[in-house]
Amino acid sequence: MARVLVIGGGIAGLWAAVKATDAGHTVELVTKAELAEGNTRYAQGGIAAALFPDDSAERHFADTIDAGAGLADPAAVRVLVDEGPDRVRDLIRFGVAFDRGESGLERGLEAAHSRARILHAGGDATGAAIEHALVATVRRRAVAIDEQTMLVDLLVEGGRVVGAQLLGASGAVVERRADAVVLATGGSGCLFRHTTNPAVATGDGVAAAWRAGARVADLEFTQFHPTALAAPGTPLISEAVRGEGAVLRDASGRRFLLDVDARGELAPRDVVARAVWRRSLEQGGAPVLLDATSLGGAELARRFPGLDAVVRAAGFDWAREPVPVTPAAHYAMGGVATDLDGRTSLPGLFAVGEVARTGVHGANRLASNSLLEAAVFADRAVRAITASESSARPAGADGDESATAGVPGRPSEFVAGAPGRPSEFVHGAPVDRDELQALMWSHVGLERDEAGLAEASARLDAWSAPEPGDHRSAEDRNLLDLARLTVAAARARRASCGAHFRTDDPALDLVLPIELEREAA
Ligand code: SIN
Repeated sequence: MARVLVIGGGIAGLWAAVKATDAGHTVELVTKAELAEGNTRYAQGGIAAALFPDDSAERHFADTIDAGAGLADPAAVRVLVDEGPDRVRDLIRFGVAFDRGESGLERGLEAAHSRARILHAGGDATGAAIEHALVATVRRRAVAIDEQTMLVDLLVEGGRVVGAQLLGASGAVVERRADAVVLATGGSGCLFRHTTNPAVATGDGVAAAWRAGARVADLEFTQFHPTALAAPGTPLISEAVRGEGAVLRDASGRRFLLDVDARGELAPRDVVARAVWRRSLEQGGAPVLLDATSLGGAELARRFPGLDAVVRAAGFDWAREPVPVTPAAHYAMGGVATDLDGRTSLPGLFAVGEVARTGVHGANRLASNSLLEAAVFADRAVRAITASESSARPAGADGDESATAGVPGRPSEFVAGAPGRPSEFVHGAPVDRDELQALMWSHVGLERDEAGLAEASARLDAWSAPEPGDHRSAEDRNLLDLARLTVAAARARRASCGAHFRTDDPALDLVLPIELEREAA
């Protein structure tokens, strides 16, 4: 049996640790903060799966493909929707108590889903419920757990990943060797000034995998959530609130989204986020408003207890008045390129969860598919490890047609890897995290163009990465590497697609209703 090193303590890492232990492997799990910290814990909406009689995997497949703006990989989406229901049943077995009503499991609706299929727990605390159940499950297993321990770099010998260099809380660097390393380090929302992500989401896994020579892809596709509360910390207001009937209004009180897309507030997330952004710009920077008053105070408190507390703590009575919202960086669709079993292009290295680019999200992730993706592909990665496939031909090698090698009709896939190896970087002033985040927000945010991206590239190149002597400096190094890669990816994809929106793409004038409306006015 294999020695498996799992790096990351969200749903993907916990899932891999539990299943690998159950398969008889020796498992060590390391996590940068405490075991329960990370994006999983903050996931509000829930987990999508085709579990109800009026629904089907086929419908879930079609919705995921549609939302992905033509770039989702059908083979990966097929796996997601077919295996999703079993993984949800696993979660129930692990102790997740999804909310139930008189007729069984309750389900919510979110943007771009043709059916209500989102299971939730504790109203709006689904991620926390999943994290809690999986942490308890992993603690019942013989898993060695190292908290406050951060990935610095992967150990590569003879082209194979054989372990990782880790930085403990004391500042001591240790090496751990393993037969298989499972990266589950989560996302990179902290690349941007405004994000719904916690402070730990600094893209550590993607940066380290890239430095080790792994293929990374689709980094230009950052998902911006349309409705973060415009208050300190930009807390997320779940799409489920719109699913229950809340609407978006501009400063004059007008419900403007129907001008943009017939699906209104439940159009795909990239469409809604961009419309919110544009309308805010058009009204001089004043935030647009989320109007949830039709739900009433009692229902808001029952269905969204966590959010109700957050919104009220920020000083808003959302049962009586619309509240200001703004888009914020939320999810990384790109990441370390994998095949359908979580294998990366480096033998011995697997990537699961948000750190991975499996291909299921394309250019715009369908709401509540992320927890599902983490469970489905972590499960498959463990099965692949168990089947001793970790030394099989790596994804993308020899021009094969794996999930990362492109799909028919896919326009100009960009795989970062060559641009900006660390050794090529100019050594300038040390990177300043606040300035990097501000730069990414202003130049690489919801709208980009070549001039802004070129300027961002020059400014990023003028910074140097710090020595990774502690967690903060190791994160800064990762943020700088990832920012450079993201800008390179955004410049390489010249046409707009999904969440990657280039205002200098001439074709856009034909497909941007808000622009057409403005011209006609
Ligand atoms: C939300 O609750 O709006 C977020 C869900 C998701 O990102 O899938």
